[in-house]
Amino acid sequence: MANFHWYLLLLLLIIPILISSFIYQLDTFDAAPLPNDHDYFSETISVPKRHNHVLSVSERVGEGLLFGPEDLAYDADRGLLFTGCDDGWIKTVNLRDDDDDYLKVENWTFVGGRPLGLALAKDGSLVVAEPYQGLLLIRERGKVELLTESAEGLRFGLTDGVDVTLDGKIYFTDASYKYPLKDYMLDVMEARPHGRLLSYDPKTNQTLVLALDLYFANGLALSPDEHAIVFCETLLRQCKKYHIKDEKKGTIELFIQNLPGFPDNIRYDREGHYWIGLTAGKTRLWDLIFKYPFIRKLLVALEKYNVKIPNGMVNGGVLSVDLDGRPVSLYSDKGLYHVTGGLKVGKYLYQGSLTKPYLNRIDLNKHAAQAKYE
Ligand SMILES: *[C@@H]1O[C@H](CO)[C@@H](O)[C@H](O)[C@H]1NC(C)=O
Ligand SMILES: *[C@@H]1O[C@H](CO)[C@@H](O)[C@H](O)[C@H]1NC(C)=O
Repeated sequence: MANFHWYLLLLLLIIPILISSFIYQLDTFDAAPLPNDHDYFSETISVPKRHNHVLSVSERVGEGLLFGPEDLAYDADRGLLFTGCDDGWIKTVNLRDDDDDYLKVENWTFVGGRPLGLALAKDGSLVVAEPYQGLLLIRERGKVELLTESAEGLRFGLTDGVDVTLDGKIYFTDASYKYPLKDYMLDVMEARPHGRLLSYDPKTNQTLVLALDLYFANGLALSPDEHAIVFCETLLRQCKKYHIKDEKKGTIELFIQNLPGFPDNIRYDREGHYWIGLTAGKTRLWDLIFKYPFIRKLLVALEKYNVKIPNGMVNGGVLSVDLDGRPVSLYSDKGLYHVTGGLKVGKYLYQGSLTKPYLNRIDLNKHAAQAKYE
């Protein structure tokens, strides 16, 4: 009987390995290592102030009406928060707290697809990065124009982050020319630089490529003096700074690296801080997945045969950094993932989400991150 048990155990071990390697051999998906100088197991930057259990102090806004509210833009004149949802709608949330309609959600303009980056221009029009169509402009509610959908003969595949200068020039990212949004995990698993940083000038109708070979070029924010833009490269857990003016014009430098998670959107709060959404925290498992392309290839191959792999996403949140890229505070929770960004309006920090049907918000006066934390 003992022999029989051994035999069974061996079969149970060997069969999945044989099947996996067979599937692996068949699959043509070609995963790449990250750049040579990438340190997979580096320590993350230390953040002076933290709040590690923000879910317990968060309030839900627009529950059941805001499906995957990804990016956020606030119009202080109208007291309206704009957000792009998974159902193709740009929706607004009324943030005038003296109004009867405080926190009321409205369907504002339907753009279709799945709106990601949003930025308000000085004249009140809204620029939208829509991953399937390209860069869109909404001058008045309900009217959507396509501004640009390609540059240097290459069509955008995943228009993602956007910001606009006071004189109307638009900076934006294309996260991947290769994979559409619905397959973004394939871009992550392949780990090749398919992203570009771009600009669009409405005065000349010209689209320019400012940088290419970026690793999932994601959120983007203008610096308050409009001398530079900061943009995130999700795969490398870092943000870079591109200079648009002065003697450094056209050059790129690192802004912050070794982030505690994978950065998504970045927004400036007009109070000296950028807020960076971390879709999920860095974990040992993700370190290994990125270190070894064969693991990524195997995961993709198995996924095709509907072998569901737990996504291992924990510790999402929002990180604030100062204008020089020094970390200031981190608001996170073990149970958070798919956090897309943070926008501070008054005392509240609003958190976007790729998949939840609501916005989370935290009262920063009551629940500020602390230097001593558990
Ligand atoms: C807003 O849009 C959603 C999704 O398309 C729809 O289900 C809902 O009925 C709309 N709400 C209003 C008030 O029109
Ligand atoms: C802007 O440029 C695009 C691409 O070159 C072109 O298709 C479009 O017609 C132009 N729009 C205007 C208003 O000139």
